[in-house]
Amino acid sequence: MSDTPPTPAGDVWTVKRILDWTIPHLKSQGSESPRLDAEILLAHARGCPRIQLYTNYDQPLTDAQRTTMRDLVKRRAAAEPVAYLVGHREFFGLDFRVTKDVLIPRPDTETLVVDAIEALKPQAASRVLDIGTGSGCIAISLAVNCPNAEVTAIDLSAAALGIAKANAEAHNVSGRIRWRCGDLFAPLAANEQFDLIASNPPYIAAAEIETLSADVRVHEPRSALDGGPDGLDVIRRLIADAPQHLVSQGKLLIEISGEQADAVTQLLAANGHYDDIAVLKDLSRQPRVVRAVRKG
Ligand SMILES: C[S@@+](CC[C@H](N)C(=O)[O-])C[C@H]1O[C@@H](n2cnc3c(N)ncnc32)[C@H](O)[C@@H]1O
Repeated sequence: MSDTPPTPAGDVWTVKRILDWTIPHLKSQGSESPRLDAEILLAHARGCPRIQLYTNYDQPLTDAQRTTMRDLVKRRAAAEPVAYLVGHREFFGLDFRVTKDVLIPRPDTETLVVDAIEALKPQAASRVLDIGTGSGCIAISLAVNCPNAEVTAIDLSAAALGIAKANAEAHNVSGRIRWRCGDLFAPLAANEQFDLIASNPPYIAAAEIETLSADVRVHEPRSALDGGPDGLDVIRRLIADAPQHLVSQGKLLIEISGEQADAVTQLLAANGHYDDIAVLKDLSRQPRVVRAVRKG
């Protein structure tokens, strides 16, 4: 690897040697998970499962694998997220293709999916709406786990919808998901109603985006992050317009940041169409989702 220290003649770049060099290098470049990053990238470069690195420590890399690894390490050192480098990320036990057109699915969002599945009672027929679908991780996880659900997924980004559609095909649920491109509820007919509306909207305050790590700030789509001056621009509109599209007793689930719980519950209460407003915590015990029920 040309980025590496000079190689003594005859030395071979084995799996172990590449890892021994890459891990401290990525750490020095600011990675918070340098071992995991190095292993995922090397497994990708070799076209093998990560676990196989451990049983092939002394195997040399081919020239092509070294070239691929060198490029991946350079890009990771420039803060490009691992998921974009390898082109996929696991979410809710499913593998999702990701590109720079979509937000990388986060484990935090699984909190919303768990509650949605519980609310939908997996075998019941139900109509579900996912607003701001991105990679399709919420819509597809719900379709896979609720085999009688009919899902509508909306995003402002046509490029994101292209990725989401490919993911739905890979998980054999494209027959139960309708895709719509547009602004929040605009692509729907005025009288269309759902049993559950889920959304992980952009909710970062615009000024706060500048304080995020370069992985997120530079590489993830701004349109997936930017929630306006206080982060609540899209959430306000969701809360205002969702009642028209929820059946009586239908549920609204919105992902939020930990600091937004009070403001968002107040917005829901002030709207007047919601009951049973609750804040759900994620696995780190942080407020992560608000849930409300359409009065009926
Ligand atoms: C935070 S990302 C969530 C993506 C995915 N649902 C997830 O949980 O990983 C927000 C998504 O909302 C989309 N979006 C932003 N504003 C929107 C709007 N006004 N109408 C529809 N989609 C919007 C973005 O393109 C982005 O894909």
